[in-house]
Amino acid sequence: MTASQRTALVLGGTGRTGALVAQKLIERGLNARTASRRGADVVFDWDDKTTYAPALDGVDRVYLVTPIMRIKFARQTAEFLDLAAVAGVRHVTYLSTYRSDQAPPEVDIRAVELDLARRGSFTHSILRPSWVMQNFSDEHLPLIDGAITVPTGDGTEAFVDAADIAAVAVETLVNPHAHAGAVYAPSGPQSITISEVAGIIASVIGRPVTHNDIDPDVWISGAVKAGIVPADYAVMLRWLTGTIIAGNGSRPNDDIEKVTGRAATSFQDFARRSAAAWALEAAK
Ligand SMILES: NC(=O)c1ccc[n+]([C@@H]2O[C@H](COP(=O)([O-])OP(=O)(O)OC[C@H]3O[C@@H](n4cnc5c(N)ncnc54)[C@H](OP(=O)(O)O)[C@@H]3O)[C@@H](O)[C@H]2O)c1
Repeated sequence: MTASQRTALVLGGTGRTGALVAQKLIERGLNARTASRRGADVVFDWDDKTTYAPALDGVDRVYLVTPIMRIKFARQTAEFLDLAAVAGVRHVTYLSTYRSDQAPPEVDIRAVELDLARRGSFTHSILRPSWVMQNFSDEHLPLIDGAITVPTGDGTEAFVDAADIAAVAVETLVNPHAHAGAVYAPSGPQSITISEVAGIIASVIGRPVTHNDIDPDVWISGAVKAGIVPADYAVMLRWLTGTIIAGNGSRPNDDIEKVTGRAATSFQDFARRSAAAWALEAAK
């Protein structure tokens, strides 16, 4: 099959942004094909190169979510992008991360951005979001016995709603020409501490919530020992949390409103909408 017009491949298609990107693309009249290892329209596994070409068949644009919980993925991504060019892809929107240009050199986030910039066969857009609000309502930063455990000190972050990241991604994929070469940093409307996050969640669930500002080494080695992250991912966790501790967390900007025409979601609105995630804690 040759690349048909307006068919998007959505990697990470069952994930927090990917699932919404696919849904919203369909609402906007495009074809969207979700891809992941389980539960998507097509099976796609970054560790199985035989899944790349079938996923790309007939696709003219891609939402690129690179392997998660990894630091080395530039080579795999380059091989995938080579095949994307052959398949007739005309635009790629890459889900990167905030301050990717300052990431530790052993982490491949910036390498993928630079790879995209070197390619002439398709255009690209880069999204560099803040920490997503959904970290607090899923398994990333769970509320356990009234506490959120993460080493961020008194630092702040402009936490962003995954739905707002998806909304920005959708605009870049629906109208690639308008966003070719663009770099957006989707961020929430407030820079807040984890203690402030705790206060907002407490007001929603009607129970006290505190920030357990654990020692970074204890937190990171605990995550590695528990098998939540591989050992080499420690450098990423140290960078992500250290940036906030040092007072260099993300700041609000108007990229979401500029691209979508709608204001970024506040943490209060996200928390009210997500109250069910903390129902067990609320019932204690
Ligand atoms: N979490 C944050 O606060 C944050 C902030 C900024 C940027 N980011 C970036 O956003 C990206 C997505 O992270 P997320 O935590 O939000 O995850 P997510 O998108 O919610 O979930 C990951 C998605 O990727 C798929 N996936 C995982 N491993 C895969 C593999 N080996 N091959 C193919 N598909 C795979 C998963 O489905 P299957 O498991 O079924 O394959 C799922 O659809 C990451 O690159 C992360 O660095 C995250």
